[in-house]
Amino acid sequence: MKTTKPGPASSAWPLCDGVALAVPVVQAPLGPCDGPRLAAEVSRAGGLGCLSLFDQSPAAARRLLQRVRSRTPRPVLVAFTNQWEPESVLDACVAEGGRLFQVFWWNAPRLAPRIRARGGLVFRQVGTVEEAAEAAEQGSDVLVAQGTEAGGQVRGPMPLADLVPAIQAITDLPIVAGGGLADRADVARVLALGARAAMLGTRFVASDESRAAPRYKARLVRARSDDLYLDRRLIGSWPCAPHRRLSAARGDDDATLYAGCGIGRIREIYPAAALVRALAPGYPPPHAGPHSAGR
Ligand SMILES: Cc1cc2nc3c(=O)[nH]c(=O)nc-3n(C[C@H](O)[C@H](O)[C@H](O)COP(=O)(O)O)c2cc1C
Repeated sequence: MKTTKPGPASSAWPLCDGVALAVPVVQAPLGPCDGPRLAAEVSRAGGLGCLSLFDQSPAAARRLLQRVRSRTPRPVLVAFTNQWEPESVLDACVAEGGRLFQVFWWNAPRLAPRIRARGGLVFRQVGTVEEAAEAAEQGSDVLVAQGTEAGGQVRGPMPLADLVPAIQAITDLPIVAGGGLADRADVARVLALGARAAMLGTRFVASDESRAAPRYKARLVRARSDDLYLDRRLIGSWPCAPHRRLSAARGDDDATLYAGCGIGRIREIYPAAALVRALAPGYPPPHAGPHSAGR
């Protein structure tokens, strides 16, 4: 793995109003595979880590955020991955200092206005141009364009390289782009398209700090792209959402094999901070200079 030295402490890659990163890399929500350790390590290394919430009580959500805070003062993204998240969980996160929230699919129209009403910033993952237009109209601060190459729940049919310009044609909102990305060249490619940052999910599942089962991580680094398929069976609170995953082998935990199309280029498990550095583009940011790091 080619790595660069840890990025400068300054946060030179602006994401949206008041939020900038040292490295334009966002860790995607990974449901039970992320957690405070992974989110904190990514943010500590200069990217934006993400903590998924699903079915936690307000008290449990607060404890998770406290665990992030004990590791880093830098912001993390809190993702609501339960499609029917109660408002009390959002309130608990805000009380704990959470300010950046990601919403997706059915939960987005309901949660986005509530997040904004509490002074939070809405990162809305979208998979189609129509959904991007709806997200812009309903109030979003960042659009997370999910290309159809994504691992896990797949929202739309468009490849990332087509989706990003199509969204840019209808809105000036900042875009984070993800789906099938695995290495520094992929990050550079989406930045060249005009995205403010790249979002990677499967690549971070194969990190030391992810909470994925060791067997699942081992499958990821051995997998080939023809091991992937789009499953349409109901899983958890995601009725009918197609999800990209590896086909199960004997002994696999059937529910947890989500993987994106970058899979053939993920060959080792690394510490998350080393991954962030390895993904950092090797050229200067467009707006070098001091920026606020969020909160
Ligand atoms: C293991 C795993 C779990 C995921 N779980 C969620 C989830 O609960 N909620 C969500 O919004 N997205 C989820 N996603 C999708 C990500 O938000 C993102 O779109 C995807 O990881 C990007 O594609 P990539 O995995 O190829 O990088 C998951 C992805 C993976 C790989």
